[in-house]
This record gives sequence, structure tokens and C-alpha cells, in this order.
Amino acid sequence: MSNETLANLLHEDRSFPPDPAFTAQANGTAALYAAADADYEGFWADQARTYVTWSKPFTQVLDWSNAPFAKWFADGELNAAYNCVDRHVEAGRGDKVALHWIGEPGDTRDVTYADLHREVQLAANALTDLGLGKGDTVAIYLPMIPEAVVAMLACARIGVPHSVVFGGFSAEALNTRIADAQAKVVITADGGWRRGTPSALKPAVDAALDHADTSVQKVLVVRRTGQDVAWNDARDVWWHDAMAAASPTHVAQGMEAEHPLFILYTSGTTGKPKGIFHTTGGYLTQAAYTNAVVHDVHPDRDVYWCTADIGWVTGHSYIVYGPLALGATQVLYEGTPDTPHQGRFWEIVQQNKVTILYTAPTAIRTFMKWGSDIPAKFDLSSIRVLGSVGEPINPEAWMWYRDVIGGGSAPIVDTWWQTETGGIMISPLPGVTSLKPGSAQRPIPGIGAEVVDDMGDPVPNGHGGYLVLTKPWPAMLRGLWGDPARYVETYWSRWPQYYFAGDGAKKDDEGNIWLLGRVDDVMNVSGHRLSTTEIESALVSHPKVAESAVVGANDEMTGQAVVAFVILRAGASHADDDNTGIVEELRNHVAKEIGPIAKPKRILIVPELPKTRSGKIMRRLLRDVAEGRQVGDATTLADTSVMDLIKTGLSSGSDD
Ligand code: WTA
Repeated sequence: MSNETLANLLHEDRSFPPDPAFTAQANGTAALYAAADADYEGFWADQARTYVTWSKPFTQVLDWSNAPFAKWFADGELNAAYNCVDRHVEAGRGDKVALHWIGEPGDTRDVTYADLHREVQLAANALTDLGLGKGDTVAIYLPMIPEAVVAMLACARIGVPHSVVFGGFSAEALNTRIADAQAKVVITADGGWRRGTPSALKPAVDAALDHADTSVQKVLVVRRTGQDVAWNDARDVWWHDAMAAASPTHVAQGMEAEHPLFILYTSGTTGKPKGIFHTTGGYLTQAAYTNAVVHDVHPDRDVYWCTADIGWVTGHSYIVYGPLALGATQVLYEGTPDTPHQGRFWEIVQQNKVTILYTAPTAIRTFMKWGSDIPAKFDLSSIRVLGSVGEPINPEAWMWYRDVIGGGSAPIVDTWWQTETGGIMISPLPGVTSLKPGSAQRPIPGIGAEVVDDMGDPVPNGHGGYLVLTKPWPAMLRGLWGDPARYVETYWSRWPQYYFAGDGAKKDDEGNIWLLGRVDDVMNVSGHRLSTTEIESALVSHPKVAESAVVGANDEMTGQAVVAFVILRAGASHADDDNTGIVEELRNHVAKEIGPIAKPKRILIVPELPKTRSGKIMRRLLRDVAEGRQVGDATTLADTSVMDLIKTGLSSGSDD
């Protein structure tokens, strides 16, 4: 972000006070802040009792004696699937729609809580029949279909942590994640629909398992597209066959509150993705509580739609665990915003009378670019709350979202959180907070956040610093799967008393927090976390590449864009003068190694990389080049002529 944009942000003086009519019905109240301040543990104990049904009530709240390894509600027991499904059926709400599933191409299915109950029980038995039990893990690699929700809940029901891998990740990325979690079963589909055509999923699983030492014993395959798939009789089982053979009743057992619920891999500063793991009681409490007070979900009258993919944490907390624990009705959409037309989202809102929409700034900016006349063709009057997540939302996009989608009145909740935090941490409360376009504003009740300097001291308002979380919270990660030391090192070593989020932030004069993007080597492209090192490793694994450096450059649509600087090996053939052949080859190579989301937008072939005398690549200078700026101070370079070499090389046309 440029200094000028920053200055503008901090002089944002528009403020939108809550509408009293909204406040009158809101779940969130000002009293929650006071209650959490007065008695932190008592506050969270109340939320845990309000939003979760415990098969064995807890008597302990927070155990921080082994910090930074937290335990919440440790002597309590609960079953997450029971909380998300059975208890709603037992309360007589079995006929209520849980999921309005909208598939491609034109498939739809309404799944009631009774349907979910039936399918989750069958699936829990089917997984048990495959030999799964506590101590095992399952990888899920599925499109946005109801079976993905059923599979996650079935795992939760039998106490087997799931590791959902986004369907857009490559076989290689899937393989690393399966191996790290030692998954015993993979649940996948023959394929999924993407922009009107079926795309394959199972071949990626087959390739990922093509290792002699794979931990995977069985692959459950959902028939989604009907395309032909290679079949290994000893290993592959059709989901529908397993479900048909399974016994229909499954009694949910309570799990200890700290029983692992899931692992979710996310990019960190090194090449190896981190297996963030979450446990059951605290996570479910915070997911449900935040969905109630931040999105203001009222299960009796709302139709809620979170547009994230189930492969990301937003899908875990705000499609599966939060809304289903509340007993909400929601839209589950398999498709993309532009298929079959650019008004697809608004058509879905109109047809389903969506009242709460939760999406990402990159999508909002795309809709803005497509033009306001597209949403204007649809009736969006049902919308009463809008949410944003994944990256900072610029005030222009915020205003557009409010005016064009929210009818000029719907409150926007700009929610800051992370895979690691499990649930929303910083956000306005609709009906309570006066909204500031572009700021995530305050830690929600029960959360402590601060902006500090290198010494860990709070910085004065108006000054930039690091965002830290000052108190343990119920949905916090319990560690990195199999690597406790890396957990401590990554998040708790800079200032042992604070959780280091990896984000830069500032507070304005009123104390509102403005997020300023990552301060580490993590990029945020269209709200997806990508690591510079991971993409660099992918590039250097190509035989023609000697060295590479990757930076995230500001991008109007995607927030940041991946820009790679590459030094080719001597003799690497590039017959074409302008390198277009090799650039395309390398982009595709990254897609194969990680997934299409990691494909660099630009690859610049350069003769040298700028390095300090200690050999550290100076990404700041590369970012200047990538963003077309005057290159900053280069005096600490080992060889100060390098930047001239790079610039000369670029102007002669090696740009993609
Ligand atoms: C960024 C997604 C500004 C941030 C839930 C964080 C945001 C990273 C916001 C986590 C927001 C998320 N404003 N930045 N409202 N929400 N971020 O793990 O840099 O995929 O550290 O979790 O996204 O990304 P993750």
C-alpha cells in the first residue's frame, strides 16, 4: 500500500451509525463488551453454554498453564456433529432446510436437517466400516457439494480429524498434505463442474497416491460428474456403495473438548505448508458465537450465504461449523460468479431471498468492474447484512458494496481473522458499531488485540506496527500438526506474551484498527494465502531454473499478484527472443506443483537478483520493480549494479 493510500485511509471520516431498527433485533449488544471485560473466562463460559450442547458439562474454562498451548473447557465433552445436526432434529426442526445447494450445471438440491442427520449417520458408519477410528486422519478433496459437508461432519462424529484440501490444489500439493497428516482415507469425487464443464479430481488423487509408502488405504469416491475414472479395486470404493452398505443409525459419542477436530494446511513463511490444527469445544463455541453476533444470523428467518470454498477456513467455520451449529438455512454454491452470466450471484440472492451475504473484497472489486447495472437487474432487497473477509477492503469497494448490493443501508462487517484463529477476531458488530469504510475496527467481545512495535510496546494511534493478539481465545490453533516447536517459533517467539499474527496494522485516532497487509513472506492473492518461498521452491524445481525470487505486487483486482524473478540455468534453451515460451512453461510448472491459484501473473527473466552482503534477497527492491516504481535505496546490496542490470533486461522486453 502506498503512503498516500495509507494517509487517505487514516483520514476516513465517513461513519455510519447503526439503524435503531437493526439494533433492536441484533444478536450483538454493547453489553457483551462490558461483560467480556468484567470477567473474561466467565464470558466465554457463557458463550460455550449458550451456543453448544455438552454431553458432559465443563467445570474448567481456560487452562493456560502450559502456554502457548491452550486448553479450553478441558473437562467437558461434546460431539460437534451432534451439535450441528442431531440436536436440531431432536428439537423438531428436522424439516428445516440446512442447505439450498445450487450446483452446476443447473443441478439443485435442498438438504434438510433430517436429510443431513440421515446421511451423516450413514457416512459415520461407512467410515467406521472402512476401519477408521480415533487416532486416524482423513483427507477430503471434494467440490462444493453436500457430500463435502456430510463427509466433514461424519469425520467429526467419529472423532477422526479431517484435513480438507482445496479442490484447486495439484496432485503434488495434495500429496504433501496427505503425507504430513498421514491420512488413512481420502474422500474425493470423480470430478467437479467448473464454468460449465466437468473437470477431473480423481486423477489427481491417483497421482498423489502413486508412492510406495503412502499412508492411504482406501479412497472413497463420490460420483458427481459421471465421467470415466481409472479404478483400483483394492483401494477405491464408491461413496454410494459404502453408504448403501452402512447401517442407518449411529449414536454420537461425546469427545473431549480438546479432541482434534480438523487440520487445515496454510502457507507460512517457509516452503512447507503448515498443518494448523483445531480442537472441538472452543472452536465450535467461537464459530457459532461469532456467526450469531457478527453476521447476526437468526436461524428462524435468515437465509445466509457464505461464498467461500469449503477448502479454506472460511468454509470450515462459516459454512459448516458455525451456521450448522446455529441451525441456520444457507446457500451452498458449487459454481463461479460469472457462469453462466455475470449476474449469477444476484440471481441466486433473488431466487433464495438471501438475507446475509459473506464474500471477499476481490469478488466485490470484480463485481464493481463488471458494472452496477448487472446487480441492478435483480431484486436484492432481502439483503440485510453484508460481510467481507480475506484481505483489507478498500473504502471505494466498501461504499459500492453498501450502496449497490446493500441498498445503501445494510451494515457491512469487515472481519479480520486467520486459519490460525479459527474464528472472527476483529470486526464491527452490526447494530452496535458505527461503521468506518475500510477498517475492521475493534476486537470483538472476548478478544484482545493490540498494535505494537519491535519491542512489543503499543504504538501511539496513527503509527504503524504489528498486529498481536493479547489473550488466548477459544478457537485458537492448538499447534501445528506434528510440529510443536515450529508453532512456538512462528507465533510466540517475537514477544512471548503475544500471538504474532504476521499482519501490519495501525490504529486511527478513535482506536479503530486498520489492517495493512502481511509483514512476512506470505502473499494474499484474491484472499488466498500463498507463500513466496513455496512458489520459489516450485520454480527452482524446474530443470531450467537456477534461482528465483517471488514477490507480491499490489494489484487493483486481486489485492496482490504473484510476480516471479527468475535466473535461468546456463544453456537453458529459450529459442524465442522474448522468452514467452519459457515463461509459459514456468507458469504451468507452478500450477502443476502447487495449483492454478499460485501461477505467477508475471515472470521476469533476469540475469541477477539483488542480494545483501549476507546473501539475503532484497524483495523490497524487486517489489519496486514489479510495481513500476522508482527503485528505493539499494546501497546495502553486495553489488549495486544489479538493479541496473535487471532494469535494462526488463526494458528489453523479457516481461510476460
Ligand atoms: C488477511 C482467512 C485485512 C490477513 C480468514 C490474515 C485480512 C490473512 C482480513 C489470513 C480482513 C483476512 N482485513 N486482512 N478483514 N481477513 N485477512 O488464513 O493478512 O486464509 O493474516 O484466513 O488474511 O488468511 P487465511
